[in-house]
Amino acid sequence: MRILITAGPTREPIDPVRYISNRSSGRMGYALASAAASRGHRVVLISGPVALAEPPGVRVVQVTTAREMQAAVRLWFDRSDALIMAAAVADWRVRAVSRQKLKKRSGTPVLRLVRNPDILKGAGRCKAGRLVVGFAAETSRVIAEARRKLADKRLDLMVANDVSRADSGFDVDTNQATLLGIDGSIERLPLMTKRALAKRIVERVEQLRQSRQSRRGALTARCRRQSR
Ligand code: CTP
Repeated sequence: MRILITAGPTREPIDPVRYISNRSSGRMGYALASAAASRGHRVVLISGPVALAEPPGVRVVQVTTAREMQAAVRLWFDRSDALIMAAAVADWRVRAVSRQKLKKRSGTPVLRLVRNPDILKGAGRCKAGRLVVGFAAETSRVIAEARRKLADKRLDLMVANDVSRADSGFDVDTNQATLLGIDGSIERLPLMTKRALAKRIVERVEQLRQSRQSRRGALTARCRRQSR
């Protein structure tokens, strides 16, 4: 399979020296890329800024902002059988990025934010037989919220995790996740390393691919236009 994976945070600039971002380390996405490559898949990894070594055998595309990540996903999605969106995309960006460093003597700035595009939702609308997998990083009502996003973003599989736990989610090597299928299936996994979880997710994607008659079709004209 050709598998497209996103990882890490995005960074949204405020001025030439400052930005808004989040706590994502990229470990889950990089573990997925390694697991998929070692199982013989052709992997493209679109990565936000992280401090991790590029996994061997993986084509890495580096991006910084959510809009750059969106452009890269649109470009590669067309040529992929599955998208796994593990990146923690910043939901907002600063409306007017200052070209000069903001100076304290000019007073305390008020930042006006605007919504970033929902990359996964755009891919779910345009998938034409491609498998689309999302992550739900939640701090409460974990399963209910993950289910809502699974349907809303038209995903095939959702990986739900509770990021309020110290041993799960951001910046740790372990994760406790529940896999929710669009067929209503629920697989509650024990606390495990991100490496082990990555292997399990890739196996589920392989199973979905096998059980599906549908294969990747051509994107509609509208979706193709978007991917340019
Ligand atoms: N995602 C995305 N583009 C965004 C925000 C999120 O593609 N602008 C993707 C993430 O990569 C993840 C999934 O959507 O796979 C869910 O992300 P999450 O942050 O849990 O949810 P949101 O859609 O941001 O919803 P909410 O703000 O209600 O939690």
